Amino acid sequence: MLRLPTVGRALAGAAKSSLAASSTVRTPVRAASNMVEVFVDGKPVEVEPGTTVLQACEKAGIQIPRFCYHERLSVAGNCRMCLVEIEKAPKPVAACAMPVMKGWNILTNSEKTRKAREESVTCR
Ligand code: FES
Repeated sequence: MLRLPTVGRALAGAAKSSLAASSTVRTPVRAASNMVEVFVDGKPVEVEPGTTVLQACEKAGIQIPRFCYHERLSVAGNCRMCLVEIEKAPKPVAACAMPVMKGWNILTNSEKTRKAREESVTCR
């Protein structure tokens, strides 16, 4: 029998490299979702981490009144016109400046929200 050591080694090397190549082949795997689910007046909305309460409300189709917020400017958070109630939170929060947390229920038209906004525009 004729032995061809160089061909055998070459084939072994090819098989090895093919195995190495197959171990690095990437299959399309869907990235795990890192979206945050919040509720705006009970309506579920999924947003990216770092999204503000105001942006989450806009995604839910609810406009929050604002004076000092503009999407192209840095967030000042001074006027307090955008205050909303977060269920189980002790005080209303400025929607333009507060990033959402998982599971929050944002109440945009509750008695506490309306009263807080009213107080922000009333001079005393
Ligand atoms: S819009 Fe002024 S504090 Fe939010």
